Amino acid sequence: MKPLIVKLGGSVITDKRRPFTVRRATLTRLARELAAAKGPLVVVHGGGSFGHPVASKYRIAEGYKNKGQLMGLSLTHRAMERLNAHVIEALQKAGLPAIAVQPSACAVVSGGRIQSMELAPIKKLLGLGLVPVLYGDAVPDLRSGMSILSGDQIVAYLARELNAFRVILGVDVDGVYTANPKKDKRAKLVRKITPVDKELTSLDVAGVKDVTGGMRSKVKELISLAMHGVEAEIVNATKPGVIRKAIQGKRGLGTVIVRR
Ligand code: IPE
Repeated sequence: MKPLIVKLGGSVITDKRRPFTVRRATLTRLARELAAAKGPLVVVHGGGSFGHPVASKYRIAEGYKNKGQLMGLSLTHRAMERLNAHVIEALQKAGLPAIAVQPSACAVVSGGRIQSMELAPIKKLLGLGLVPVLYGDAVPDLRSGMSILSGDQIVAYLARELNAFRVILGVDVDGVYTANPKKDKRAKLVRKITPVDKELTSLDVAGVKDVTGGMRSKVKELISLAMHGVEAEIVNATKPGVIRKAIQGKRGLGTVIVRR
């Protein structure tokens, strides 16, 4: 059976204004909504106020330049493990047999892009009925020494390799906008994006300051996925019930990214 892949954005499950702060009630609610999944499920989560501040302090995304970054990589990874522990516990409380899979230990990354990934354990976990949980991570990089692997890239890679039937990206806005909806009143929600929509330059650049590129890079990952025939939807996971409805098969809740 083809798996469903759901990403919980860092700005949904953490308070981005406060370092190392989980949005506990939101996470508990989302875990319950995820429990609505009927078939195999992979969960991926972002970094929010855990991974991003540490990664940017040590400039991990810029590659290896000095020894101080080694501790930076260690601390960034540890920050992500701490957030991951919260996610795993919330999923377990909702009845999902969740298990952490460490991206920095199973993905081979070069120049910030995944070259390959050990998938046999993930496939076996899914086959058994477990829920693998991955996350954006600070990773060794064959070319640049170290880099930040975003949860979005992991989602796109896994969706391709595991032949996912659908991808749902939970963010803190209603989808992709023509401008930053938090700053620009004229921003319009884009309902559907296909690979022919090359107007990416006019898309929302909210969150572009984070170390992995914000909305624009999400759309890029999902467009390349759509070209492989996997449909995706970016939805607002801060609104109760939206992730559940999306999991239950409802379309058109946010921005759909499809081949045509
Ligand atoms: C970032 O992952 C992980 C680190 C900074 C270590 P993402 O890029 O997927 O995180 P969010 O969802 O944007 O917070």
